[in-house]
Amino acid sequence: MAKITEIDDLKRIYKRRTPKMFYDYCESGSWTEQTFRENSSDFDLIKLRQRVAVDMTGRSTASKMIGQDVAMPVALAPVGSTGMQHADGEILAAKAAEKFGVPFTLSTMSVCSLEDVAENTSKPFWFQLYVMRDREFTKRAIQRAKDAGCSALVLTLDLQILGQRHKDIKNGLTVPIKLSPYTLLDLATKWRWGMQMMQTKRRSFGNIIGHIDGVSDMSSLSVWAAESFDPQLDWDYVKEIKDLWGGPLILKGILDADDAKMALNVGADAIVVSNHGGRQLDGAMSSIKALPSIMDAVGDKIEVHLDSGIRSGQDVLKALAMGATGTYIGRAFVYGLGAMGQHGVEEALRVIHKELDVTMALCGEKNVQDLGKHNLLVPRDFY
Ligand code: FNR
Repeated sequence: MAKITEIDDLKRIYKRRTPKMFYDYCESGSWTEQTFRENSSDFDLIKLRQRVAVDMTGRSTASKMIGQDVAMPVALAPVGSTGMQHADGEILAAKAAEKFGVPFTLSTMSVCSLEDVAENTSKPFWFQLYVMRDREFTKRAIQRAKDAGCSALVLTLDLQILGQRHKDIKNGLTVPIKLSPYTLLDLATKWRWGMQMMQTKRRSFGNIIGHIDGVSDMSSLSVWAAESFDPQLDWDYVKEIKDLWGGPLILKGILDADDAKMALNVGADAIVVSNHGGRQLDGAMSSIKALPSIMDAVGDKIEVHLDSGIRSGQDVLKALAMGATGTYIGRAFVYGLGAMGQHGVEEALRVIHKELDVTMALCGEKNVQDLGKHNLLVPRDFY
């Protein structure tokens, strides 16, 4: 088996094993993919300050996210259709997160349901909610999350309308699915993927979204999604959802200081500075570049998390040193899942943990809580 030393190793295996339309679904951004690219490349603009002759023994990456203990402040982001990347993908990713001691977030758009994941894990996980026109759906989903023992609700605010993703359209991931000779050939060569899907009872094409009745294939999913996301979502409704849920609430998809202030006003427990991994508003700022102004606006009043573009423990360290108390990885764990199932997600977490720990040491820090701007050289245009 290949030696995994960096996230890119997992990505290479994932690409080899996964049908192109699902690989592209993950590895793409909207429109020109500028924001998708800059999410990662902007991390590279930030330099680390190397420190020497500092006692580096007894280091710890342990921390808290919304008051919950975490082995490192890196949660698994909600990723729709994770069960299409690997059979039972949501369950396997949740198990890996549980084993590693980091939060797992189940997407509304998951193949495995809240109940499937709850039955197969022993620690509480987080549930991500999309707001639908059908407000009864929202109520039911919140109740199901409560019944499943979820310990936080992650409400996604940046997808009231779907960003246009060229690759998905061209691959036939939207209506109608184009089963061209190429697609069929591709599926035939990715036989391992096909074998897994045949063996699971949570078959992706049998019940594509565990939370939604009557959506039985990718084609009906896209019709359903276009008709169902609620374009009327506003801050009053966010407040209503907060009251309905009654537990820790994390608002995801904040990229602007004014929105961060609104999130604070509605009484959220945390925000996620995120542009949905570059899948929504192309041309928007990278998350890491948006972080400083948001920290200035609300950083001392609300917990600030960050995702989009994180591919290494060094990226995690940079986000933490710039003030975030937690981070999320999306694609980085999907690569692992598609490459090697649960073991691959564990490998992704192990790689990121190791990189975070070693980088912390070489920056002369022993605890993630001690990281700060003093560890970085940040370009002026970030402020
Ligand atoms: C996502 N993301 C996402 N977010 C969300 O709130 N609900 C969802 O169902 C999904 N689905 C989804 C599918 C895929 C394939 C990807 C790649 C992403 C966004 C996700 O939670 C997170 O914000 C980004 O993945 C972070 O960027 P990186 O880490 O992938 O660069």
